[in-house]
Amino acid sequence: MSDLRADAQAHVVPHFTKGAAWNSDDMMVMDRGEGCYVWDTDGNKYLDGLAGLFCTNLGHGRADLAAVAAKQMEKLAFYPNWGTTHEPVTRAATMIAEVAPGDLSDTFFVSSGSEAVESALKFARNFHVANGEDSRYKVISRDWSYHGTTLAALTVTGVPKFRKTFLPMLWDGVRNVPTTYGDTADTLTSAAAVEEMILAEGPETVALVIAEPVQNGRGCVVPPEGYWQELRRICDKYGVLLCADEVICSFGRLGRFFGSERFGVVPDMITFAKGVTSAYLPLGGVIVRRPLLETIWDSEVALYNHGSTFGGHPVSTAVAVANMQAMHDEGIMEHVRANEGYFAAGMESLVERFDVLREKRGTGYFYALELMGSRAEDRDLNDEEVAGLQGGGLARMVRDAGLLIRPDDRGATMLTYSPPLVADREVIDDIINRSEQVLTRATAWLAGDR
Ligand SMILES: Cc1ncc(COP(=O)(O)O)c(C=O)c1O
Repeated sequence: MSDLRADAQAHVVPHFTKGAAWNSDDMMVMDRGEGCYVWDTDGNKYLDGLAGLFCTNLGHGRADLAAVAAKQMEKLAFYPNWGTTHEPVTRAATMIAEVAPGDLSDTFFVSSGSEAVESALKFARNFHVANGEDSRYKVISRDWSYHGTTLAALTVTGVPKFRKTFLPMLWDGVRNVPTTYGDTADTLTSAAAVEEMILAEGPETVALVIAEPVQNGRGCVVPPEGYWQELRRICDKYGVLLCADEVICSFGRLGRFFGSERFGVVPDMITFAKGVTSAYLPLGGVIVRRPLLETIWDSEVALYNHGSTFGGHPVSTAVAVANMQAMHDEGIMEHVRANEGYFAAGMESLVERFDVLREKRGTGYFYALELMGSRAEDRDLNDEEVAGLQGGGLARMVRDAGLLIRPDDRGATMLTYSPPLVADREVIDDIINRSEQVLTRATAWLAGDR
């Protein structure tokens, strides 16, 4: 039998992975998954506390989704979404319209979250040109936001380490404003910063504001009450479009089909990917408000000038239909809402028990724990501790605990949790127990036991 690890090290270019880590002797080779657990080829079992990468929402090993894909491949494996339609893409868009907020009723499908963001950026520009406002092209996004890796999506991404190599290739129309981290419903200074930026740039030049309902970068930043209403008010006032980037926050992650619903706002566009198929096949998209699309079609411009071969792929959209139907039939939204308090309480109990935790943030099935040197002593991690924990220390600890969660370095040292939405209280208990092992190790490590 060939050595999969060695062959991968010889031939696969990994994503966001340093060569030294990729070439290590114990680089993981994943083999199979079932529900909330996955196994590697050495037979080790792990709790998938990140749902792959915020995406296997219905969990692993669903034969029903596989069967739908196989059936669709036999019937019509491929036909493009240019000028023609087919049953799966039509049904997927119709089902999305049924659960999307307000008059968000039309979906443009692509194959990933980055492409969804590219599509939103181009849609905003396309709309303004059609609407006779050729001067609008700038985009406002937030510090530490992650909107993807393709060049325009990377331009609106607010994480310096992802951007720095490519800075000369990024366009100059993007302005970053602070996240809602530390802001309160009483002040809403983070929303005021958006208005100030629009005014400073000149409203007639601004096309779009893009933000995640709960921002992943900087660790599950939940907005204060009223924030999204303020963004809506500001965008309406200055004729700027508002896009909720819900690549993570949709399809149940926050206990609703869309995070915008949770925060009671109707944006002009919603970008999604990941959980729309529970990651059984790649699919993403941008949902737009009908009047915006009609403005484009009724104008001289006449079309949304964007497209791709695989957008609206029959097999991916057939799986999306089956995935959404299963979410309805199995009461996934209700399940998340019934258990999110239990999950949050488990996270909070870790904060109470471990002095190395500053706080927990999050909502739904989406949480982050932020580490510090000592809460009792009000001491931050020093540079050497940050380097050790972020440079592989935490990754080793979580792996040894058989818990696949994300050690995150975007703005602080954090652990991010986003398990499959089918996780029940038993799995949540398992997450908390394994986290306890990680934090016990981290505490010892910080005390000098390395
Ligand atoms: C909010 C958000 N937008 C966009 C993306 C990019 O998605 P993808 O990796 O599918 O290109 C991600 C990925 O995690 C994301 O979290």
